[in-house]
Amino acid sequence: MSKAKLTPVIELRGLTKQYGVGDAQHNALNGIDLTIEKGEFITIMGPSGCGKTTLLNILGLLDHSNDGEYFLDGTSVERFSGARHARIRSQQIGIVFQHFNLINRLNVIENVALPLTYNGMFRTRRLKQASAVLKNFHLSEREYYMPWQLSGGQMQRVAIARALVNNPSIILADEPTGNLDSKSSHVIMEELSDIHKRGNTIIMVTHNPDLTTYASRVIHMLDGEIASDTKTPIELEKSNKKIPLGMHHKETKAAKKPTKKRKTTKAKKK
Ligand SMILES: Nc1ncnc2c1ncn2[C@@H]1O[C@H](COP(=O)(O)OP(=O)(O)OP(=O)(O)O)[C@@H](O)[C@H]1O
Ligand SMILES: [Mg+2]
Repeated sequence: MSKAKLTPVIELRGLTKQYGVGDAQHNALNGIDLTIEKGEFITIMGPSGCGKTTLLNILGLLDHSNDGEYFLDGTSVERFSGARHARIRSQQIGIVFQHFNLINRLNVIENVALPLTYNGMFRTRRLKQASAVLKNFHLSEREYYMPWQLSGGQMQRVAIARALVNNPSIILADEPTGNLDSKSSHVIMEELSDIHKRGNTIIMVTHNPDLTTYASRVIHMLDGEIASDTKTPIELEKSNKKIPLGMHHKETKAAKKPTKKRKTTKAKKK
């Protein structure tokens, strides 16, 4: 039986990003081809400087490529105005930055409520919504602290709360657990995992191979290219769930701990 073809949420074709000029010119991204379907949970790994943040910034419409195309929900974003980019970010995309990017002159609750200002929501409602998200991250007592009064881990949780406050369908996270101990990392990962289970798309950069167990697909980058792209057992389990009628329910249950990896594509760049 053939599967109904859905428009990928993200499609990149030959995406290239250059920095510098002349002899100093350097390709941070070197012709990336990538298709991401709605509801995937992708982790991106790779050595420092291989282009992970550059890629997330372009996906989050915070930066432009020099060449190639980026289709979001089937539409090329290249010709969209800055205002349209900002609108898409405020309605559809949540971003957790590698260095948090909290605004120092705003307190915690105002930082978290910030993405909602672009949606024209009244202040009291914005703060109420921000407060609800902060509660999920056990930060209710810190609502009126300033960012510089927080620990690194707390800053990180505030940054994640801010990325989730507008219920985005695409979450881009650059090392969201980079500064956290393993227990706090898993709390954050469980939260992201719940968001994924609700059908949202997550693209997360991490250096921690343990965290790939939450993902449906793992991409390794090297020198601005995709070196490998692997579906994880979570994804394979998902396809196994689509079993013929009549099969025993117990057999459809997703395994919690993936055990084996399967390569789906190999590096295709020369
Ligand atoms: N604004 C910039 N100007 C010039 N070069 C840049 C700029 N931003 C990034 N680069 C270069 O592009 C390359 C990719 O950088 P990027 O930040 O995407 O790496 P990364 O994979 O996120 O690394 P890390 O794991 O250390 O965060 C690096 O060689 C970096 O020096
Ligand atoms: Mg980076």
